[in-house]
Amino acid sequence: MCGIVGYIGSKKATPFLLEGLTCLEYRGYDSAGIATIEDNKIEVKKDKGRVKNLYDLDGIDSLVGTVGIAHTRWATHGKPSKDNSHPHLDNSGTFSVVHNGIIENHNELRNFLISKGYSFASQTDTEVIPNLIHYYFNNGENIGDNKFLSAVKQAVSDLKGSYAIVVMSPLFKDELIVARKDSPLVIGTSNGENFIASDIPALLSHSKNFYLLDDNEFAVVCKDKIKFYDINLTEHRKGIKNIEWDATETGKNGFEDYMLKEIFEQPNSIRETIGSRLKLGENCYFDDLEISEEFLHNINQIYIVACGTAMHAGLIGKTILENLCKIPTTVEIASEFRYRNPLIDEKTLCIYISQSGETADTIAALKLAKSKGATTIAISNVISSSITREADYSIYTHAGPEIAVASTKAYTSQVVLIAILAIHFAEILNSYEQEKLEALKADILDLPSKIENILADTSKIKNFADKVYTEKDMFFLGRGIDYAVALEGSLKLKEISYIHSEAYAAGELKHGPIALIENNVTVIGIITEPDLVDKTCSNLQEVITRGAKTLIVTNMQLENNCFDFVIDIPEINHLLSPILSVVPLQLLSYYISKNKGLDVDKPRNLAKSVTVE
Ligand code: AGP
Ligand code: GLU
Repeated sequence: MCGIVGYIGSKKATPFLLEGLTCLEYRGYDSAGIATIEDNKIEVKKDKGRVKNLYDLDGIDSLVGTVGIAHTRWATHGKPSKDNSHPHLDNSGTFSVVHNGIIENHNELRNFLISKGYSFASQTDTEVIPNLIHYYFNNGENIGDNKFLSAVKQAVSDLKGSYAIVVMSPLFKDELIVARKDSPLVIGTSNGENFIASDIPALLSHSKNFYLLDDNEFAVVCKDKIKFYDINLTEHRKGIKNIEWDATETGKNGFEDYMLKEIFEQPNSIRETIGSRLKLGENCYFDDLEISEEFLHNINQIYIVACGTAMHAGLIGKTILENLCKIPTTVEIASEFRYRNPLIDEKTLCIYISQSGETADTIAALKLAKSKGATTIAISNVISSSITREADYSIYTHAGPEIAVASTKAYTSQVVLIAILAIHFAEILNSYEQEKLEALKADILDLPSKIENILADTSKIKNFADKVYTEKDMFFLGRGIDYAVALEGSLKLKEISYIHSEAYAAGELKHGPIALIENNVTVIGIITEPDLVDKTCSNLQEVITRGAKTLIVTNMQLENNCFDFVIDIPEINHLLSPILSVVPLQLLSYYISKNKGLDVDKPRNLAKSVTVE
């Protein structure tokens, strides 16, 4: 699930491998390692902990090999430890493998290999792979004219689960073999050297030209050529993609952390999301989406499916779509949707939201809907990511690379994009007054400057963070669209500050959770729904009566204001208010995490892109 880097060329591989791993650190990991070919032998340096520890490992400077593989591990099978870190070797030290993903049948394969005399040095599922390759190398059949590739192909045919692997062997020191299924892998190409990575940012300073490996595809990567093969090892040609992201976009640009940088990038990322899709006085336009009027008139339900923050963006999307298009819309968590046999057919439109486009559950949920005849749209931030290659249509947020594990700018861009999509559908369906649509468009165009306004002075939020950062529990309350923001605010706080928090629909509190409110507990209220302001205020009054300390994020003039802290945000159509009200909550989590001295960008146990179930 974490990071892979590979290099083959004429230069020393180690500097590139270490730099690549550093670029991938944002994905979240617990161990790191590299292997190079030195004097016809594989040398491995690995340990648990940070990539920077590798620089201090004995002998790392003496690695001069020009072919190498490297890995940051996010442990699934076996605790983080030196032995469990990748790269892994087969018993004879002939094949070295880095692997992202999970091998679900590893026990069965392990037992098979043990019965053939193999032994294991780690608890990982991964270690079966190099040993299986060794087994097939010596006992398998020869498929095609590359014995190395043939052994890798037979080994991966036995694997159940997900994998992106790079295999290296001193017997074939002029090539690396790569393969994938349900876990991303890209190959960046340059003159006389080629690069491999699980994620584009690791390679951006070396190449802008990428091959995106497909599921069940293999590549033999040499320093001056790359050959691609299908599942039967029939060679085929593959198109190259030019990625327009700039390496400087993946730097911190003077900010202390990526998360803070990305919070402050939101005015610009939203401008990019709007792009030329929305203009006053004109119908919205998506050059990447040709959904016919007839199809839209025929659909009877919409599903929005996603995980985590992207799912929270979906909750807001539901309200906007139902308001503007009058089509019943259901939001579901992808990991639930994929296993519950949902009632969908040709009249269903399914929208999948994923920043990375690589989230295993979201991709599986999309494949399920397609198999039932639904039309699918992917909303992603990463061009040509797996989800966009599966969906019938793909629309991009264009928010630029998001490096911090906690999503901020991708979320606001997702909401903006769904809002524009909903306006587009409403224009086709004629389901909402034109004048009101124009007013909404004007509000969307105003979003960047309104966020700038919020970001211009963050001192109030910082002061509040200073007061509450030692707390153990917090509550987030809201009604309607504000409840969706409460969920996102609460998730952000948990993720990066490790403070336990709960988000509740404000009216639901007295049905149980109010039992948890006691003296001095912090309750954060979001109030932007004009029709619900009095109701939410009453619910907040109920917690104040029980001793709670309150912070309110609002764009209303609140009467009888009895709250401890109020953060005012600019006024806007309430359907768009989540894009503003979430910003103080992002900042609050950020400052609390900083006060606690935590690693904001790489919170414990989390990975940026969850490519396993
Ligand atoms: C966001 O802060 C989280 N790290 C997480 O919930 C994330 O949104 C989720 O894993 C979905 O990721 P995706 O958008 O890349 O599919
Ligand atoms: N499942 C493998 C392990 O636990 C790979 C994990 C990863 O993707 O980092 O070692």
